[in-house]
Amino acid sequence: MQQLYEKLTYTQELIDLENEFGVHNYHPLEVVLLALQEQAAKITLSSRAFHNEQLPHYLKELHDLTGFEMAMPLNSGTEAVEAAIKIARKWGHKIKGIPEGKAEIIVCDGNFHGRTIAIVGFSSSAEYRDGFGPFPAGFNLIPFGDAEALRNAITPNTCAFLVEPIQGEGGIIIPPDGYLHAAAEICKQNNVLLVLDEIQSGLGRTGKLFCYEHENITPDVLILGKALAGGFMPVSAVLASREILGVIQPGDHGSTFGGNPLACAVARAALRVLVEEKMIDRAAELGAYFLERVRAIRNRDIKEVRGKGLWIAIELNGMARPYCEALKEQGILAKETHDHIIRIAPPLTITRDEIDWAVQRLTKVLEA
Ligand SMILES: Cc1ncc(COP(=O)(O)O)c(C=O)c1O
Repeated sequence: MQQLYEKLTYTQELIDLENEFGVHNYHPLEVVLLALQEQAAKITLSSRAFHNEQLPHYLKELHDLTGFEMAMPLNSGTEAVEAAIKIARKWGHKIKGIPEGKAEIIVCDGNFHGRTIAIVGFSSSAEYRDGFGPFPAGFNLIPFGDAEALRNAITPNTCAFLVEPIQGEGGIIIPPDGYLHAAAEICKQNNVLLVLDEIQSGLGRTGKLFCYEHENITPDVLILGKALAGGFMPVSAVLASREILGVIQPGDHGSTFGGNPLACAVARAALRVLVEEKMIDRAAELGAYFLERVRAIRNRDIKEVRGKGLWIAIELNGMARPYCEALKEQGILAKETHDHIIRIAPPLTITRDEIDWAVQRLTKVLEA
């Protein structure tokens, strides 16, 4: 009897935790599917039609780490950006009072937010759009890094400004100092949500937990992916306040595998490792060292070396592909982006010795 009572209490605790820190886009049956160790082989994926034991703890830990009141658990990055767009539009229509179907989102030239129809629809890269139209309306492109352009583009129907703090796929494009700060002020003055896509820049990559911390701001909506599960499996999330995420009701959005027990367990472990192993400080320290050493490489083809944390771009005057191929032969996997940029984004577990090893090879290839 006592055991049964304890089980029921634990079940209720889990359901309460999930309700407190998770978006109410589902209305699950009040049963908790436990992923205890001996059951892990059986319950790795369970649908959100039911509760699972991992999700409430994951949501609470995400809240404790980030300070955001609630999160919506999803799988891929693009899926999380799509969800954020829906949330921003619904907030615009239901809370801000924008006439139905008129909500606009401002986005930036050179953006990369994923590959769904809506997202490629507002890409400024012709090759991402070619052959895939027609695209949804309601997105306005402005130059990246220009706060005045943002101010001028806002209309009474603008619900959100969606932006990467540093454009990753665009070539690790770092905006001028103060840009994000100014953008946050402009959004606040105009009752526009600042939606930051930190799928690539977040979780320690730039030497802070989130890239926005470099400018002492907090976005209204934060999108995470990639490193959220330590690269082990696809896990993404949209984080925001209770007021914003409260617009989402059961049935408004869904994802069968979003928040599944295995994903939540892995993400919990990844977040723990990030903090306990001081990955963020390491990224700041080792990133500065790596950048300095790459900057010392001499090659007439190098136009610029830039970076933040463990995220470095080598921009060339010519094509990057031959260098990436030569680097592969040396054991370094660095993919070119936009033809002329070599992007270096090592795992945050990299050591100083491994950086020295990599610099030796980068020097050999680039100085050849
Ligand atoms: C900033 C940013 N947003 C969104 C995405 C899309 O994520 P995914 O490929 O997981 O859908 C990416 C992927 O590179 C990204 O860098």
